[in-house]
Amino acid sequence: MQIKTVGVLGCGLMGSGIAQVCAAAGYKTIVREVDEIALDKGLGRIRKFLDDGVAKGKVSADARDKTLGGLSGTTTFSGLGECDLVIEAIIENLEDKRQAYAALEKIVRPDTLFVSNTSSLCITELAAASSRPDRFGGLHFFNPVPLMKLVEVIRALTTSDETYQTVFAFARSLGKEPITAPDRPGFIVNRLLVPYLLDAIRAYENGLGTLDDIDKGMKLGCGYPMGPFTLLDFVGLDTTYYIANIMFEEFREPQYAPPPLLKRMVLAGRLGKKTGQGFYSYA
Ligand code: 3HC
Repeated sequence: MQIKTVGVLGCGLMGSGIAQVCAAAGYKTIVREVDEIALDKGLGRIRKFLDDGVAKGKVSADARDKTLGGLSGTTTFSGLGECDLVIEAIIENLEDKRQAYAALEKIVRPDTLFVSNTSSLCITELAAASSRPDRFGGLHFFNPVPLMKLVEVIRALTTSDETYQTVFAFARSLGKEPITAPDRPGFIVNRLLVPYLLDAIRAYENGLGTLDDIDKGMKLGCGYPMGPFTLLDFVGLDTTYYIANIMFEEFREPQYAPPPLLKRMVLAGRLGKKTGQGFYSYA
């Protein structure tokens, strides 16, 4: 199957990045948000990223204009009727996703492929929640989407070979490096990253060092682009807590159990960069 038109459900942090890279790769891209305010915010984020890229000399003005020219927004599902592939990047809630798939099914062609950018939900369960479990898979991007080279491609138990191969080739056509990950909580990257981040919190609670020293240690000693606490604030403590809980529920191993400090920071609304306060202050 040839993909020409891509729909993106959700224009939040991930959805806007995904829509941007699809449009930049030459796909006609239509992004759907629930209302005009959310849509304007998401499209504004894309415009700013591209303008910053031009200012930094990383993106040509022509490439920016072509990307923006290939991108449009809608607040309806019917706006996605012509899509060959729909990438779902909405809230991590099974019921919300189920409702979105049901609305989509009414307007897209039977051969349209669905993929979810979920970082934690079971792809097989999501596929079963759609009426096209063989034409459904996982496509997990990393934040910030336009800069991170990796995409994980996940097969549900029901994903057909053709769907898997088409989605894998599509990921590569975005200029990304795809890897095949199992339909298990955390896939490959979060399966290794989340226990590391949780362990950093536990070690900090046990007096291993200051936030700055632990971050500096991992950044300068191991060449990581961000230390664990900077990365936790960047990813969002709520997101990390949510993924950890799902992993713990599935594996029942202590390494995935969210540490008490993480839970309390989430309860206090200290979610990281997005709320202005996490392990560090961004006021
Ligand atoms: N347009 C184009 N290029 C841009 C750009 C823009 N608007 N903004 C920045 N860039 C380029 C820069 O020019 C630079 O390019 P260069 O390396 O060729 O010079 C590169 O992108 C890096 O940008 P900066 O120098 O401005 O910033 P940093 O060097 O501080 O890098 C970062 C920023 C890429 C976010 C880096 O800190 C990083 O890689 N951090 C780790 C991020 C990470 O781990 N993400 C994964 C999180 S886990 C996840 O997403 C999974 C989920 O399920 C939880």
